[in-house]
Amino acid sequence: MQSITLRQPDDWHLHFRDNDMLAETVPATARCFARAIVMPNLVPPVTNAELAMAYKARIEAARPAGSQFEPLMTLYLTNQTTPADITAAKAAGVVACKLYPAGATTNSDAAVKGINALYPVFEQMEKDGVLLLIHGEVTESHVDIFDREKVFIDQYMAKIVKDFPGLKVVFEHITTADAADFVLGNGDNIAATITPQHLLLNRNDLLVGGVRPHNYCLPVLKRNTHQQRLREVVAQGSTKFFLGTDSAPHAKHRKENACGCAGCYSAWSAIELYAEVFEQLGAMDKFEAFASENGPDFYGLPRNTGTITLVKESWQVPDLVTLADGTEMVPFFAGQTLNWKLA
Ligand code: NCD
Ligand code: ZN
Ligand code: ZN
Repeated sequence: MQSITLRQPDDWHLHFRDNDMLAETVPATARCFARAIVMPNLVPPVTNAELAMAYKARIEAARPAGSQFEPLMTLYLTNQTTPADITAAKAAGVVACKLYPAGATTNSDAAVKGINALYPVFEQMEKDGVLLLIHGEVTESHVDIFDREKVFIDQYMAKIVKDFPGLKVVFEHITTADAADFVLGNGDNIAATITPQHLLLNRNDLLVGGVRPHNYCLPVLKRNTHQQRLREVVAQGSTKFFLGTDSAPHAKHRKENACGCAGCYSAWSAIELYAEVFEQLGAMDKFEAFASENGPDFYGLPRNTGTITLVKESWQVPDLVTLADGTEMVPFFAGQTLNWKLA
């Protein structure tokens, strides 16, 4: 296969960050995606309709000339979020709310401490048709970091999905066979995003031969049997799984650090890397549904009508991206050769 044309894809999990960074991140995503679910973990977080709409306007202002790219906005749930916040957000066009257990990941300190206290908010989301997006990891210090996703399923995810059958839940950036099987084994109200890094890599790629900070993201890469299960479920083509890059830029010096932060900046290579995965799996016929159909179908949004074309052509991911203010970032797969290129 020398080229593939597919319905224009969307990115159902993305971090743009804010202000000056938008000049870098918005064009990077808009080069191939029509829409993206914009994560709300800014400092301070996007916790209400007004903040979400102001953020949306900043993103739109950073689009390349003529771009129709559409940011899909989300709210960051806290223990102060009220059902009235949900209704106001829905009216303003917010499509989903993000649940971060406090301390689970980058900029999640202000997030949710007692998930059960949010039940009135979940009820309102169910009524208003606002989706619940979950970073599914427990944060208790006694739980091993490699077990945190599985324990979250057992302690919270299973209960939320059962208690709110009309609430659409996206299990974000799944990393384990347990999560894939949980999603497959439950009803139509649960789906999941999968990142390129969790399909391409396992924890050996993080730790063997030296610590590789640019492969460090949360949830952390797992053992290869989990990676294999994620690859299997996308190759099988279940409609419950869709593209969410979790592209999450951080400055080079903050990742190459004694306490390096979590996140892979994949926007410049994500669609190409997914193409590589589906080709490796002999499942190119499942790529379009994963990238461009399962996501909008689950969200209840129209599928895009445009197309993109990828061609079989080698190119190298740049070693560095430098922002206008001089900040350097190392993109995901920096310096490596990819086989697919956006035409
Ligand atoms: C994300 C970030 O940097 O904002 N980091 C990550 O490792 N994925 C946060 C997140 O998605 O959990
Ligand atoms: Zn997350
Ligand atoms: Zn994320």
